[in-house]
Amino acid sequence: MTKVAVIGTGYVGLIQAVGLAEIGHHVTCIDTDEAKIGRLKKGQSPIFEPGLPEALSTVIGSQAITFTTDLAEGVKDAEIIFIAVGTPSDTDGRADLKYVWTVAKDLVKTPTGAALVVIKSTVPVGTNRELQEFFQKAKLGFTVVSNPEFLREGSALDDFRAPDRVVLGTNRPEVAAQLVALYEPLGAPVLLTTLETAELIKYASNSFLALEISYINSIALLAEKVGADVTQIAAGMRLDARIGKRAFLDAGLGYGGSCFPKDVKALKHFMVAQKSDSGLLEETERINQKMRGHFLALAKKELRSFPGKTIALWGGAFKAGTDDIREAPSLDIIAALHREGAKIRLFDPAASEAIKKVFPFVTIAETPIGAAKGADGLLVITNWAEFTAIDLTELKAAMKKPVVVDGRNLFPPIEMTQAGFTYRSVGR
Ligand code: UDX
Repeated sequence: MTKVAVIGTGYVGLIQAVGLAEIGHHVTCIDTDEAKIGRLKKGQSPIFEPGLPEALSTVIGSQAITFTTDLAEGVKDAEIIFIAVGTPSDTDGRADLKYVWTVAKDLVKTPTGAALVVIKSTVPVGTNRELQEFFQKAKLGFTVVSNPEFLREGSALDDFRAPDRVVLGTNRPEVAAQLVALYEPLGAPVLLTTLETAELIKYASNSFLALEISYINSIALLAEKVGADVTQIAAGMRLDARIGKRAFLDAGLGYGGSCFPKDVKALKHFMVAQKSDSGLLEETERINQKMRGHFLALAKKELRSFPGKTIALWGGAFKAGTDDIREAPSLDIIAALHREGAKIRLFDPAASEAIKKVFPFVTIAETPIGAAKGADGLLVITNWAEFTAIDLTELKAAMKKPVVVDGRNLFPPIEMTQAGFTYRSVGR
């Protein structure tokens, strides 16, 4: 059992904390947000993540986890301190490190027995080294370790429990054994590397996955021109073991969320600063953005025009399994439909509230069929599995005009046509 402090109870910090508590460590979570810590103490999860409320209640029950707003109290007995505060993009796309540095500066003034400071926050290349030098100058014996996270929203706990790999970057490899032991119950391969390499593994992985998505989307645009089916192209590609069955080759509206857009932008920015070739990432972003416009053009073609029409939207979240709408394609699509005078009725199993906050003019429906009732067309924006379970006869009967434009390729085109819909999807 290791005593661990996790600073920052956002998405990454909270999953890290609960995950470590589950595998037998004692974890203290620290956050400056009193309301959040208050809710956590009562076992209430501040984020939407499947399985988290249950896991939280288990580790609170076994007293493996505690919560505090007091940094001094939180780190006093810790052997390892994790920093998992946010690094939002600034207006240039650079990661804003103010929260990381605030914590580092506070740590200098706070007595602790910890020897390791582990950076979970996604930070630009070179930041971990700067932090190491900062602690050295302050005459603190901390060793900084870069330990990037690879958690997907919606399956973050599973990703923590069964990671593909644990990456540990440090310029003092002799201290890594303590972290290897910490993660040992997970049984994952550990890659021990330098600070800069660990930092780049994170950016390179996320940007590569984003690039895969833009690649298949560029193939989708071609497939549409020649009458091929991008879903089958992806299936054929995934059977190549070198590409892999989990490859990010679902074409459609492209990527959003809190990671891919931010990480691609940050890596591109870093490449430019290093006078390195950032062309691939520029194209990745360009194609990703283009897909939103392409989808709207498809929708416009099928619906002829938007003014005065009632458009049903299925999904607002950037992907299924989350209530997160950051950088979601829905944001651009709703804005464009509204600009063109459409009336929008949206259903999302988790993100309705978030959408309503940004777009008060959107009518929120309680069910997918409720959103479609009397609509001139239905646009599928998010890949929620429950959409595919809808009774197509009921859906058709509910709509004023049976037009479905699917930005996530959720339905087999033949089935939709046979059910009497005018159906368009991306790259098929
Ligand atoms: C991602 C990474 O997967 C994770 O390792 C990282 O640390 C955080 O960022 P997340 O943003 O939660 O996780 O979602 P992910 O499932 O990776 O999907 C990202 C976006 O790509 C979503 O908008 C999704 O809809 C889109 N996507 C994904 C596609 O368009 N096609 C695909 O084939 C896969």
